[in-house]
Amino acid sequence: MNLLPRPVSYVDGGRLCEYRGWETVLVDGPPGGYRLISSDDGVLIEAHDAEGEMNALQTLRQLLGPQAFRAAGEKPSVIPACEVVDHPRFAWRGVMLDVARHFLPKREVLRYVELLSAHKLNVLHLHLTDDQGWRFECKRYPKLTEVGSWREDSRFGDRRSGGMTGRPHGGFYPQEDLREIVEYARARHITVVPEIDVPGHSQAAIAAYPELGVHGGGVWTDWGINERVLNTEESTVDFYRNVFDELMDVFPAEFIGLGGDEAPGHDGEIVRAIAKHLVRNGRRPYGWDEVLDSGPLPAGTVVASWRGVEGGVTALREGHDVVMCPEEFVYLDYRQSDSPGEPIPVGTVTTLEDVYAWEPVPAEVTGDEPGRLLGAQANIWTEHLDSARRVDYAAFPRLAAFAEVVWSPAEKDPGFVERLREHHLPRLDALGVEYRPLTGPHPWQLLPGVPGFPR
Ligand code: ACM
Repeated sequence: MNLLPRPVSYVDGGRLCEYRGWETVLVDGPPGGYRLISSDDGVLIEAHDAEGEMNALQTLRQLLGPQAFRAAGEKPSVIPACEVVDHPRFAWRGVMLDVARHFLPKREVLRYVELLSAHKLNVLHLHLTDDQGWRFECKRYPKLTEVGSWREDSRFGDRRSGGMTGRPHGGFYPQEDLREIVEYARARHITVVPEIDVPGHSQAAIAAYPELGVHGGGVWTDWGINERVLNTEESTVDFYRNVFDELMDVFPAEFIGLGGDEAPGHDGEIVRAIAKHLVRNGRRPYGWDEVLDSGPLPAGTVVASWRGVEGGVTALREGHDVVMCPEEFVYLDYRQSDSPGEPIPVGTVTTLEDVYAWEPVPAEVTGDEPGRLLGAQANIWTEHLDSARRVDYAAFPRLAAFAEVVWSPAEKDPGFVERLREHHLPRLDALGVEYRPLTGPHPWQLLPGVPGFPR
């Protein structure tokens, strides 16, 4: 019997024992790590900390078989006799969900927290604002959601050739919902890192409060890079300091995202001002790699390297901590095969095997850099994923490959896909995840006639 993710060491006794529950004791060891021993005497978990116990319990669930992933039904009664010794390779094992381009209802975000936990992922980065929608209830500025949380129409497919849906789209999270998500995640040792994107990707805010922008305009109904960014007035910086104050009140995370990406013609002043404001409040700014061009950033800033790995390598050399998420490997909205039949095929081909083959530590990194490589995250942008069903299709099974990459030692397992097919897809089936089959999409997962833009 194999596991997923692959443990540091695993000994299978080759026989089954009766399962009667488990017992946990705390022992010293690497963070998030554990030893699990199952025998005729029962299951003993030696956890290194509370997160280690959670990780061990997820492994226990894997050992008990797909039935253990169902919400109800007969309880598994046997478990293989085995010993598993395991700990994570990286501290930051993240997923970014873009809930701005298409709103994901709270129940679906909670379901994703469960799915992250099942894959021993521990950071949920919520991209809460963009040109196409503002999803964070801000009590001081109610028009951000009254006006900014919905748009009249949406592009359907790529902007170069797609039509429009002809339907409004919207939604936002009341602060009480966000606190609930944070608490639900915390109980599973998952940190929710919120992001409010400045100074680009801000058209929804500008639609609500036109004085924030250089040009006016409504909540954007198209996709792509928008020229209409925030202005550099001190009143705009003050506005955002107040918004980030509310964000910090709702999200206790050490890391707070401020975006910083794709802001044509902007000089970075607001990024620096917000970064300083976050640090003054005891938090660490978290921005896309364009923030490196914003001028000197406060100590503690964390950089997400998405335009390849170069930004991450530079940031490490400049003393910043880094999360790797190069679009070529871990943008899970990108097409999963080169078949023209992939539903809305955008980006480069990023197969399951490509994600699994990825090594998060670039060859240029020696380990002597003053910054630390905290880990990696997979990014799920949702311009072309308008429902949880579409998000499932894009995320899985590639997210399982990503989970193994950030958990396991760097050496790759040639048996990964077989292990996934035999052991893990049945678990996803039991969970009700609508993943892309290894042989290609189900007929009902196709979107014929909706244009993409393959690169
Ligand atoms: C990004 O993909 N604009 C971070």
